[in-house]
Amino acid sequence: MPARMLAAKIISIRSLAMTKSIRVQACLAAVVLLTSTMGFAQSSGEATYKAKCMTCHGAAGMAETAVGKALKVKPVTDPSVQKMTKAEMTEATRNGMGKMQSFKDKITDAQIKDSVDYFRSLMK
Ligand code: HEC
Repeated sequence: MPARMLAAKIISIRSLAMTKSIRVQACLAAVVLLTSTMGFAQSSGEATYKAKCMTCHGAAGMAETAVGKALKVKPVTDPSVQKMTKAEMTEATRNGMGKMQSFKDKITDAQIKDSVDYFRSLMK
């Protein structure tokens, strides 16, 4: 085989190897993306909170939304919120509190528990 053709062949093998490694990388990226979306799905408390609670309590629990302000929802930094136990909060969410409706027929007990956990994570 003439040297030129051999060189061309080596180059083409190299580029093939490169395409392969790019493919492997793309594959890895897809796996990383998949596991991170799975991680997101696992923190269902956050998803429930964003869907069911955020309009009043706000993304950061500061009740900074229009509805939150209108209903005078207390921010998580409020002493009366801070002193509530997890059980009291779960109870409040389940059966309602002041202007907050009862959630027991709207979402599952697990969703109540998870969204309260998420709410409490905003208190720190
Ligand atoms: C319609 C608006 C509204 C929605 C939606 C709402 N809340 Fe409330 N929430 C209130 C109001 C009003 C109170 C009464 C006490 C206050 O002003 O903070 C309250 C009180 C609470 C309390 C007691 C501590 C506190 O902030 O006073 C918790 C815990 C709570 N809500 C969690 C939730 C969770 C979890 C969800 C979603 C599943 C939710 N809330 C959805 C309006 C709302």
